Amino acid sequence: MTTLPSLAETYQGLFDVGAAINLKSLARFPELIARQFNSITTENAMKMAATQPREGEFDFTDADLMVHFARQHRMHVRGHTLNWYQALPEWVFAGKDGQDADADTLWRRLETHVATQVEHFRGQVYAWDVVNEAIADEPDKVLRENCWLRALGPSYIPRLFEFAHQADPDALLFYNEYNIVHPEKRDRLACYLRQLLDDGVPIHGVGIQSHMTLLAPHQIDEPTADYGRLLAEAIECFAGLGLIVHLTELDISCYPYQNLQAPVIPAPTEALLDLQAQRYAEVFRTCAQLSRKVTSVTMWGVSDDLTWLNHFPVEDRTNWPLFFDGEGRPKPAFWRVMDARRTPAQI
Ligand code: GLA
Repeated sequence: MTTLPSLAETYQGLFDVGAAINLKSLARFPELIARQFNSITTENAMKMAATQPREGEFDFTDADLMVHFARQHRMHVRGHTLNWYQALPEWVFAGKDGQDADADTLWRRLETHVATQVEHFRGQVYAWDVVNEAIADEPDKVLRENCWLRALGPSYIPRLFEFAHQADPDALLFYNEYNIVHPEKRDRLACYLRQLLDDGVPIHGVGIQSHMTLLAPHQIDEPTADYGRLLAEAIECFAGLGLIVHLTELDISCYPYQNLQAPVIPAPTEALLDLQAQRYAEVFRTCAQLSRKVTSVTMWGVSDDLTWLNHFPVEDRTNWPLFFDGEGRPKPAFWRVMDARRTPAQI
């Protein structure tokens, strides 16, 4: 595998090329990961359910192993994520005698969690996804009505950024969200972030998750001829607020998002892999053109056999969203992305 050209080297000087890894992918493909990528995210290992399974008992074992690997190979580490409404341990909202925890208790728990985790990784994690997926899907709302909003009101978001900033003033703090290449949600988020910035909240970047399909770079099944342009507009929009942009969870599913009844694909055809390659080239070319604004592009996984999309949104439906197949062999998308850097104008 060492004879393959390296994605990270090819895009060096423009942006980091990262991957979400877990202990399985790391055990199977350590050389491939070290050679192809110069940044990692520890897939689920830094989520609250993993790092604080019981109150006050922090467990960073898995995340530490992956961070150690990254340091050995001089890779950057993105921390994901300090706050989400999923992957929570059961105790978080529990109070005494079967009651819900009161607001004071929740604030204390949030602050302790963020302070302990961020301090633990201080100097090793350079950027944190502080808040994940807090914007509503419905166009007439701003914030998602999740467990945090219900318990603490909208100030939970700015306060989380403040807790993280106190714990590591040098870390870059990101707001991370899906489907924000879609103009409506993009603008609603931008408007919200502008308010936070005006209020002096320490937020430095936006993570565009970038779970894409062959149809569109957002999660609405509208085939679009403007794949790269929509992404470019989203990058320009957030950069216009003075924020750094990272693509944090890039994958390109072979299925539409919303049509769960779409015919099952027995095996990817050459034409399908070619279209995927073209889409990936559009994404990387767009980021290269805007590389003063985009400083990191992270793939959400390494090889097709270990992707979350084999289980979501349909259990046991095989998908092929990444650069490497189940044996770690490069797919057409890998080569096209290499070519996109060498001959940007012709892709
Ligand atoms: C979201 C989360 C990620 C991950 C993916 C699916 O995008 O931000 O942490 O859980 O879903 O794997």
